[in-house]
Amino acid sequence: MLIRRIDATRLDDCLALAAGRKWSAEPHKWGLLFEIGDVYGIDDPDGGLAGCVVCTSYGTRLSGIGMMLVAEKFGRQGLGGQLMKHAMAEAGTESTWLTATTYGQPLYEKLGFRSIGDSYIYRGEFRPPASGASRPASTKDMAAIAALDAEVFGAPRPEVLGRLPVFTEQLRVIEGTEGIRGYAAAWRNVDDTVIGPVVADNETMAKNLISDLAAGISTTVRLDLDDTHPELREWVEGLGIARGMRTEVMVHGASLPGDRKRLFLPLSVATG
Ligand SMILES: CC(C)(COP(=O)(O)OP(=O)(O)OC[C@H]1O[C@@H](n2cnc3c(N)ncnc32)[C@H](O)[C@@H]1OP(=O)(O)O)[C@@H](O)C(=O)NCCC(=O)NCCS
Repeated sequence: MLIRRIDATRLDDCLALAAGRKWSAEPHKWGLLFEIGDVYGIDDPDGGLAGCVVCTSYGTRLSGIGMMLVAEKFGRQGLGGQLMKHAMAEAGTESTWLTATTYGQPLYEKLGFRSIGDSYIYRGEFRPPASGASRPASTKDMAAIAALDAEVFGAPRPEVLGRLPVFTEQLRVIEGTEGIRGYAAAWRNVDDTVIGPVVADNETMAKNLISDLAAGISTTVRLDLDDTHPELREWVEGLGIARGMRTEVMVHGASLPGDRKRLFLPLSVATG
């Protein structure tokens, strides 16, 4: 079955595929993925899609893979493996990052991915007191945010950063004596507001950014916290949000670039 790159005209087919696997319909997120990533699909001869995957490349250094979906009726026939191999070959990056469900993990292990930790979804009413340490970002801050992000993320993602001001509902920064030291964003996804990315010098700064964003959120909040910052997980749990679904964080190829200790939350688990 032929794998080809698809565009946003196939959004409804992607949503139908996701619904078939009991994933929620996330049109806003898919809209961004079609803009910043390469979406590959396999047509179902009876209409719609048999499978899809999204690969977002950050230069030649890193790519993130997400939204890996194969319709149940086509399951265990090799489509998932073919989609992954195709996306990785097209990206050709030194490293590939993803977070795997229990369905996907064995397949990714066979393809040479190794586990580097875990990630949990935290979702609920989240009302930490605002810190007042951050301020809303302005267009004048975008160059400094991009420079900080490149240092921490370790690979250029101008397409992501260029879209943050319109894609997100809030974008906040914290300044130090030498300019911007941290930034964080919040964006709407169906009934939740997702907080991420969060880049900060340390845990206190990350908490301040997250708290200030939360003060401006009226919906439930979603945080995808990996195990590189256990204190942040404890803080969130202490504020009454329980751990939800677990995924395995996996990497293929070279180790992740950048200064990951300063990356507290991803933009999304589909992109890194
Ligand atoms: C994960 C998912 C994409 C895998 O898709 P898939 O097309 O079934 O994947 P493949 O067929 O390539 O591989 C799945 C398994 O089938 C096996 N397989 C492949 N071809 C086969 C064949 N012809 N006959 C029997 N088994 C086969 C593979 O070896 C693999 O085995 P394993 O699970 O024991 O490792 C699919 O299960 C899915 O959409 N799940 C729900 C959404 C999800 O969790 N996505 C992953 C997000 S990280």
